[in-house]
Amino acid sequence: MYQLFAVTQPGLEAITRQEMLSLGFSVHKPDPRSTESGGGVEFDASLAELYRANLYLRTPARILSRLGQFDATGFAELRSKAAKLPWHQYLNPSRPLAIRVTCHKSKLYHSDGVAERIAGAIGDSFRQPVSVVKFDEDEDKNLPQLVVVRLSHDLCTVSVDSSGALLHRRAYRLATAKAPLRENLAAALLLAAGWKTSAPLMDPFCGSGTLAIEAALMAGRIAPGKNRRFAFMDWPSYDSKLWQRLVNEAAAAEKTPEAPILASDRDAGAIKLAQANAERAGAAAYIQFTHQAFSAMQPPAQPGWLVCNPPYGVRVTSTHDLRNLYAQLGHVLTALCPAWQVGILCNSSYLVGHTRLKFPRTLSLVNGGIPVTFFMGQVPQP
Ligand SMILES: C[S@@+](CC[C@H](N)C(=O)[O-])C[C@H]1O[C@@H](n2cnc3c(N)ncnc32)[C@H](O)[C@@H]1O
Repeated sequence: MYQLFAVTQPGLEAITRQEMLSLGFSVHKPDPRSTESGGGVEFDASLAELYRANLYLRTPARILSRLGQFDATGFAELRSKAAKLPWHQYLNPSRPLAIRVTCHKSKLYHSDGVAERIAGAIGDSFRQPVSVVKFDEDEDKNLPQLVVVRLSHDLCTVSVDSSGALLHRRAYRLATAKAPLRENLAAALLLAAGWKTSAPLMDPFCGSGTLAIEAALMAGRIAPGKNRRFAFMDWPSYDSKLWQRLVNEAAAAEKTPEAPILASDRDAGAIKLAQANAERAGAAAYIQFTHQAFSAMQPPAQPGWLVCNPPYGVRVTSTHDLRNLYAQLGHVLTALCPAWQVGILCNSSYLVGHTRLKFPRTLSLVNGGIPVTFFMGQVPQP
């Protein structure tokens, strides 16, 4: 069995937990005392489930596998205890590795010093020195093996990353328009909004198409990780036959979405990029892209979900008065989308207030370093 931790963006833990439960993963109950429960979800898994987590999960950032946990209050103790961990199951000592350390309320608080002792311990275990490099999250090729160490109240938890490049890198989005959403955040917004894949989905501010593409992948049951490499593929334990069997199973479960997915943007360049991204994701056939202003939207008769992140004036500069844009959005939704569910990602409740719609549910998040809120509500019936 593997003890795993699905790292997720703070604010998304409950959504990731829900996603994992719906896929049948054995997630642990959130522990209010555990500092680890913030920022992710713990679960136990077989090797196949570890692969499935990377293959299927849409909302986490990466999946860590825990090697061990022990108390350590001094460097010598840290090194000798860490040297006993089962590194051989995970690491190749001749490949570079990166060690990421966080220290919280512990006697060992110097993260570089801790990283040095952990590198020493790995070298002791393999009886050869290891080369330690930086881990660049923006890279997705030739990444080093990543070891994650967390010291909290003198308790040291050591994990190895099984994902490699961040999980939002689904290998489809080469082209981005202005201020794109991360793929895993887009998927999380769709789940938070409660979108049912049997109902229509519209994004009238689609930019590079992330929300619509994630929706099409969900509705088409397309596994987000099927076309990419993962760090576990370099582990000595890697079972390529098992992985291939899981990928084949995932491919066999794909289906044509039941309801329309509509994406539009007033920027012709964005629509081109979005279409190219959808092609690469294998989802182009499932999305109707239209080059138009949101005011020209033509929603399907059956009410569905409208999920979007309109410009909000921090990452996207607009000469338009954003207050008017939100007021107009409110008018258009009230006139054209009665009874639709609406989810709007924005950094300003003041702007969203101009829609004059009610948003009884909100979710606080960070998008591109900016605190934002996902506002969820329903357009009233006439
Ligand atoms: C924050 S971006 C959306 C990013 C998108 N979610 C993604 O992942 O790439 C906002 C988008 O709204 C579009 N937009 C701005 N005003 C618009 C309008 N009046 N009608 C339609 N689209 C508009 C912009 O062209 C831009 O692509």
